[in-house]
Amino acid sequence: MILNTELEYKGNLFPSKIVSYEKNLNVLSFTTANGAILQVTVRRDSILRFRFTTTGIFENDFSYAITKYASRGYNLLEVSENEDYYIITTSKLICNISKLDLRTSIYDAKDKSLICEDELGFHWEESYEHGGNVVKMSKTAQPGESYYGLGDKPVDNNLKGKRFENWVTDSYAYGRDTDPIYKTIPFYTALHNKKSYGIFFDNTFRSFFDFCHERRNITSFWAQGGEMNYYFIYGPEMSDVVVNYTDLTGKPHEMPALWTLGYHQCKWSYYPESNVKEITSKFRELQIPCDAIYLDIDYMEGFRCFTWSEEYFPNPKRMVKELADDGFKTIVIIDPGIKIDMDYSVFKEGLDKDYFCKRADGPYMKGKVWPGECYFPDFTNPDVREWWANLFQELVEDIGVKGVWNDMNEPAVMDVPGKTFPNDVRHDYDGNHCSHRKAHNVYGMQMARATYQGLKKFSYPKRPFVITRAAYSGTQRYTSSWTGDNIATWDHLTIANLQAQRMCMSGFSFIGSDIGGFAEQPNGELYARWIQLGIFHPFCRTHSSGDHGDQEPWAFGTTITDVVRKFIEIRYQLLPYLYTAFWRYAEEGIPILKSLVLYDQADPQTHYRNDEFIFGEKILACPITGPNQKGRRMYIPLGKWYNFWSDEVVEGGTEQWVDADLDFMPIFVKEGAIIPKYPIQQYVGEKTIDELILDVYYKEGKETSEVYEDATDGYDYIKGRYSLRTFKLNGKKKELIIQQHKSGKFITTYKTFKVSLHGLPFKISKVEIDNVIIPFKDLKLNGDNTLVLTKEFTELHIMA
Ligand code: GLC
Repeated sequence: MILNTELEYKGNLFPSKIVSYEKNLNVLSFTTANGAILQVTVRRDSILRFRFTTTGIFENDFSYAITKYASRGYNLLEVSENEDYYIITTSKLICNISKLDLRTSIYDAKDKSLICEDELGFHWEESYEHGGNVVKMSKTAQPGESYYGLGDKPVDNNLKGKRFENWVTDSYAYGRDTDPIYKTIPFYTALHNKKSYGIFFDNTFRSFFDFCHERRNITSFWAQGGEMNYYFIYGPEMSDVVVNYTDLTGKPHEMPALWTLGYHQCKWSYYPESNVKEITSKFRELQIPCDAIYLDIDYMEGFRCFTWSEEYFPNPKRMVKELADDGFKTIVIIDPGIKIDMDYSVFKEGLDKDYFCKRADGPYMKGKVWPGECYFPDFTNPDVREWWANLFQELVEDIGVKGVWNDMNEPAVMDVPGKTFPNDVRHDYDGNHCSHRKAHNVYGMQMARATYQGLKKFSYPKRPFVITRAAYSGTQRYTSSWTGDNIATWDHLTIANLQAQRMCMSGFSFIGSDIGGFAEQPNGELYARWIQLGIFHPFCRTHSSGDHGDQEPWAFGTTITDVVRKFIEIRYQLLPYLYTAFWRYAEEGIPILKSLVLYDQADPQTHYRNDEFIFGEKILACPITGPNQKGRRMYIPLGKWYNFWSDEVVEGGTEQWVDADLDFMPIFVKEGAIIPKYPIQQYVGEKTIDELILDVYYKEGKETSEVYEDATDGYDYIKGRYSLRTFKLNGKKKELIIQQHKSGKFITTYKTFKVSLHGLPFKISKVEIDNVIIPFKDLKLNGDNTLVLTKEFTELHIMA
C-alpha cells in the first residue's frame, strides 16, 4: 500500500472529532463530525470488536468466520469519559477512544500497561473503480514486539519485518516466502513485554498485513473493500489468545474418527483397481500400518465429479468393500469444476436449477480445469450447498466411501491470469449478493462446508471426514486440510514444519503436508526424515504427483522401509495420546502442535525458534532437516526432559546437540508426563485393545496428564459415553503417587494398565493400590519397572 508516500497520503481520509456517543447494552457507537462511526462491541472481558463505517450506515452484519457457538458475556463493562477520551473498562481491558479522531489505545486492566495503540488508526481511501473504500488500520509496534500466525504462510514463525497478502491462490510448487498461497486466515498474535494479544481482521476481500516491514515501528493491515472490522483478543497468555480466536471462529464440530488420525497413502493417481489393491496388499504384506487409501481424479469418467471410470473401476462398491474388509477406508477427490456436458446429470441439474456462478452481465462463469471447460457451483448459496451435500448420497451411503478430498477450490482456473475467477463474478453470499472480490476467499471454505454437510448426513451414524485445500478462518469447523503442492526438497520439509505449526497457531490444527513432497521425487533419506516429522502432524498422509516415480514407504529400499515402518508404528502407538490432544482441541480450542513461543512465551529464547515444537502437551519433537546428519542442535525448553529413546534426562533452557542417526529423530518427553499408548495395529480397530500402556516419566514434583477415549467413531461420546482419565502424578525422593480420576460413561475394552516407569530413582519395595498393599511380585512384568494393574485404581502408591 499506500502508507508512506506523500502522494498516497493524499488519498487517505480520516475520522474527525466525535460528536455523539450511544450505548446499547454491550454495543458502543461513536459518531464523528464527518459521518464516520466506530462501533465497539464488548464480546467478552478480553475480546473487543471494532467496526467502522464511513457513511453512517453499516452493512448487514454477516460473517462466514464467526461461529454461532462462540462464547459471549463479560463480568464488567463501564464507560466513562474525560476531556480527551471515552474510556471503556472491562475486567481485563481498558480501551481509550480519542474524542479527536477515534484513535484507540488498549491497556491491561490489572497493571495498566499499554498493550496496543493506534498509530494513524482507522483511515480509508475511496475506491473509484469498485465503489466503497480501501479500509486501513495502522498501529504502533511496541518495543520488542513479535508477531505470529496468519495461516499457511511458508515463512519462519516470527513474522516481524514482513508483509503479506491474503488471497486464496492455487500455488503449484510454491516455495519459501511465496505469498499468497492456498489459505486466508487474517489472524495474528503479537507478543511484547511477556504479554500477548491477537487481532482477527474479519474481512474477506483481498487483504494485507504489514509487520514493521514498510515502517520499522508500524504494524498495519488493510483490505481492498468491505468494512474495517476486527476483533482484538487479549491473553496475556498467547495460548489464551489462540483459544479465544478458536472459540470465535469455531472448533471442529465433532471429534474425528480415530482412523482419520492413522496413516494415509495417496498418489496422483492410483488406478486401475488392480493398482490400488497392489498398494494396499503391500502395506499388509510389509506390515506397515495404514488406514486410508486415496483415489485422485483418474477414478472418474473424464474427470466428471460423482462418476466412476467404468474401465478402471468397474465395480466401485465391491472394491470399496474389499478394501474395507482389509482395514482400508477409501477417500475420493471431488473438485468444484463441473464439466460442461449436457449428457452429464450433475451438470444438467446444476444448470436447470441455476446453481452455477455467473459473470456480472449474465453469462456463466466458464473456466478450464481438469475436465476441460467447466461451470462452477456458487457454494455461497445455501440452496447450492444443500444440493451439493445431497450429491454425496451414492458415493457415501451406497458405495461406502469414507472421506472426501476437496481440491482446486480456491477456485483454481487454468490458463487465465490470476489463476481464478475474474473479479466481476457474482455470488449469493448467503443473501448478501456480492462480487468475487468479496467471495473469493470463502469460496473453498463454503465448498468444504457443503461437502461436510453431505458427508455428515450420509456417513451417519459414523463421523464425517473431509479434506480441503482452500480455507478461510472458521473452515476448521468442518474439515481437515493439507498444505498443497509442495516440492520434494529439504527446504520444503522445513516449510511443512513451519506451516503445520502456523496453522495450529491459527486455530486450524487438523493439518499436514504431502509427506515426501508433491512435485519431484525425494530420495529415501528425505522421505524417511519427512515421515519422521509427518507422524507428529495431526493429518498424516503421503501424497505425490506420481510423474517422478513411486512414493510408497517401500519405494526406497529396505533400510528406508524399516525406518518408515518404525515411525508409523510410533504414530499408531501414540494414537490415544494424539486423540486426547485432539479432544482438547475440539473441546477447548487448544492447538495440537505448539510452537515453542506458544508453549513458553516468557522465555525469550523461544521467540525466534522455528524447528522445535510441542506435540500435544508433553512431547517435544524436532525434525532433522538436512542430508547426511547424525543429529542436530536444538533448543530444549525450560524444565527437565527425557530423551524418548534413551530415557536420559536433560535440563532445558539451552541449545544442545542431540544424536539422531537416520532411524532416530530428536524426541523428548516432559518429566512427570504419563503417555498413553496402544499396541501397534495395522489399522485402527484391527485389534481389540486389551491393555493400555502408560509410560510414566518420573518427576520430583507434580504433573497432570489426561487420556480421552471413546468408541473411536459415532456420536455416543456427545451423550456422555466417553472415558476421560486424569492422572495426577506426585513424585518424591522415595515414593511416587499417581491418582486417577475418571469421568464419562464409556467402558474401555481393556481392564488393565501396563505401567512402565521411566527414570524412577529408587528400587521399588512396596506398592499400594487404594491403600491396600499388593505384593510387588504379583504386579511386575519383565523386570522391576513395568507393572500390570487394574484400570480401576484411584491411587497408586509406589515406595522405595
Ligand atoms: C492438485 C492437488 C493435488 C492433486 C492434483 C490432481 O494439484 O493439489 O494434490 O493430486 O491436483 O488432482
